[in-house]
Amino acid sequence: MRIALRDVTVQYDPGLPSATTALSGVGLAVEQGECVAVIGPTGSGKTTLLEVMAGLAKPTSGAATIEPAGAVRRLRDAVGLAYQFPESQFFEETVFADVGFGPARQGLAEPEIRIRVEEALSRAGLPAGEFGGRAPLSLSAGEKRRAAIAGILALSRPFLLLDEPTAGLDPSTAERIADLVRNDAREGRGVVVVTHDLEFVEAVTSHTVVLGDGAVLTDGTTADALSDAALLEQLGLEPPPRYALMDRLRRLRHPESDRIGLVLSRAGGDPQEP
Ligand SMILES: Nc1ncnc2c1ncn2[C@@H]1O[C@H](COP(=O)(O)OP(=O)(O)OP(=O)(O)O)[C@@H](O)[C@H]1O
Ligand SMILES: [Mg+2]
Repeated sequence: MRIALRDVTVQYDPGLPSATTALSGVGLAVEQGECVAVIGPTGSGKTTLLEVMAGLAKPTSGAATIEPAGAVRRLRDAVGLAYQFPESQFFEETVFADVGFGPARQGLAEPEIRIRVEEALSRAGLPAGEFGGRAPLSLSAGEKRRAAIAGILALSRPFLLLDEPTAGLDPSTAERIADLVRNDAREGRGVVVVTHDLEFVEAVTSHTVVLGDGAVLTDGTTADALSDAALLEQLGLEPPPRYALMDRLRRLRHPESDRIGLVLSRAGGDPQEP
């Protein structure tokens, strides 16, 4: 199964003086089992793109669909979206009830809901015994984010979309979210992550889409995107340390830069060679 966007344009307030084109002519596809990063400056259309992929924003023109056609009734039945601001996702009095809300709406029986909620909370690093009875708004910023992600995991849908999942988190909590995302992709979910955190992009994604002013600037491997120092500078994003070092060596025309790059990429423990 894949999410496919074809020539998607989204305009807010069309026809009014406040009209804004958030996306223009975007085409891309996300397969199950892959983990895709979406990066770009503020206001470039990243959140709007996730909302289109989740079936929550309707393209003004073009189409967002699940392929093969008929695999699910509606796009939104295949996708869970964890919002940029987790507070906007909570509306129950306890973490347990909040995470259980989606499964309850799916019509699951009480014991099955309990299992889903406990598993989702445990995967998000918030054991139900400790956090289930807490009020969502009483959680710390990192716990809120993880509770919001648990709410999406509990839906158990084939695609998981995360909007800035590591914003404001310390490195160890970000690493926990990275593990969670990697496991989800390994289990066959398709994951799309919007983020400014390029170390996170390097650690978990293999495919990166770069947005600028609502259009796709590049769509290719994460290694290619992170090696493009000029593009990252244009976006105002810092490359991860390994790529920054490679870029410096290349600029200095260091005779060993290719060999050092290979050693660094092996040390990084992933298949993406700069
Ligand atoms: N509900 C809305 N009504 C009107 N304009 C909107 C709305 N939502 C977004 N926009 C505009 O659409 C454009 C894209 O916004 P979007 O939130 O998708 O960007 P973003 O890349 O997620 O930004 P950020 O990095 O700040 O989260 C911006 O110009 C924004 O002002
Ligand atoms: Mg956004």
